[in-house]
Amino acid sequence: MNRKVSKAIFPVAGMGTRFLPATKSVPKEIMTLVDRPLIQYAIDEARAAGIEDFIFVTSRGKSALEDYFDLAPDLEASLEASGKTELLEILRNTNMDSGTIAYLRQHKALGLGHAVSCARKLIGDEPFAVILPDDVIAGEKPCLQQMVEAYQETGGAMVATMEVSPAQTSSYGVLDVADQSPRIVTARGMVEKPAAGTAPSNLAVIGRYILTPQVLANFDNIGRGAGGEIQLTDAIAEEIQSGRDVFGYRFEGERYDCGSKAGFLQATVAFALARDDLRDELDAFLTDLHVAKQAAQ
Ligand code: UTP
Repeated sequence: MNRKVSKAIFPVAGMGTRFLPATKSVPKEIMTLVDRPLIQYAIDEARAAGIEDFIFVTSRGKSALEDYFDLAPDLEASLEASGKTELLEILRNTNMDSGTIAYLRQHKALGLGHAVSCARKLIGDEPFAVILPDDVIAGEKPCLQQMVEAYQETGGAMVATMEVSPAQTSSYGVLDVADQSPRIVTARGMVEKPAAGTAPSNLAVIGRYILTPQVLANFDNIGRGAGGEIQLTDAIAEEIQSGRDVFGYRFEGERYDCGSKAGFLQATVAFALARDDLRDELDAFLTDLHVAKQAAQ
C-alpha cells in the first residue's frame, strides 16, 4: 500500500461536557491557549506533517469552527488600511485554501470510533491520520510528523503512546505490547478504558493515529464498546486480531490533556511561559502567588 499520508480526520463532534457551561455555545476546539484556538494547533501540526486534506467531523453547534477557517475580508481590509501588518500576517496564516477542508456531520455522538467511521467515503483507499485537538503536544518536531516519518518504515497502523501512572490507565485506551523498544513498540492487544488493576501495560494511547482504510472497514463488525460508545480502539484492536501490524509510537514532546480543565490550565501556563512577550510578567505573577500562598500557611 501507498504510504503517503495526505488526509487527516479531526473528530470534533463530542459534546465537551467537561467544559460546561462554556461549551453550551463555544465549541471546545475554539477555546484558546493564550491567543490561538486548540484547533489551530492541530491544523499547524497536520500541515507540518504534510497533510493536504483536512476532514472535520462536526456536530450541531460547531459552526464557529467553520467560520474560523473562512476568510475575514473586512477584518483583513481594516488591518491593511491601518498598517497592522503583523496582525494581518497572523490572521492570514489561519486561512485555508478552498477545497482543502471538508466538514461532515456526525448526527449522534455515538463515540470517537463512530465519528472517524463517518469519514470513510472521503478517505478512499489510502492511509490517513486522525488528530484529536484536545491533545496538544509541544515538542521540537511536531508529533504527527514524527509518526509519519516512522510510518514510512513500518506501514501498518500506528498510534501515539505515552506512559501514564497505573491509576490513570482506566481513562485511556491501553496497549498490550510485545516488546519494550524505546520508540516503536509492536502491539499485541489494545483495550479501551480497562477496569482498575486490569490494564495490560501503562502505555496509554494519545490522540494521534495513522490508520489504514482496513481499520474503517472493521467498523462493519464492531458494535458499542466501553461506555456504550463505538470505539476507535476496538477497530484498531481488530487489526491485531486479524494478524495485521499495529504499532505504538512513543513520541518526543510534552502532551497536555486539554479536554480536562487541569490539563487546559497547565497548557495555558506552559505556552504563555514559552512566549517572549508574556514570560516575565506571568513568571513574576506566579512567584508572587506562590510566596503569598506559603505565607498564608
Ligand atoms: P471526549 O471523550 O473528550 O469527549 O472525546 P467530548 O465530548 O469531546 O468531551 P467531554 O468528555 O464530554 O468533556 C474525544 C474526542 O472524540 C471526539 C471529541 O470531539 C474529541 O475530539 N468525539 C467524541 C466525537 O467526534 N464524537 C463522539 O461521539 C465522541
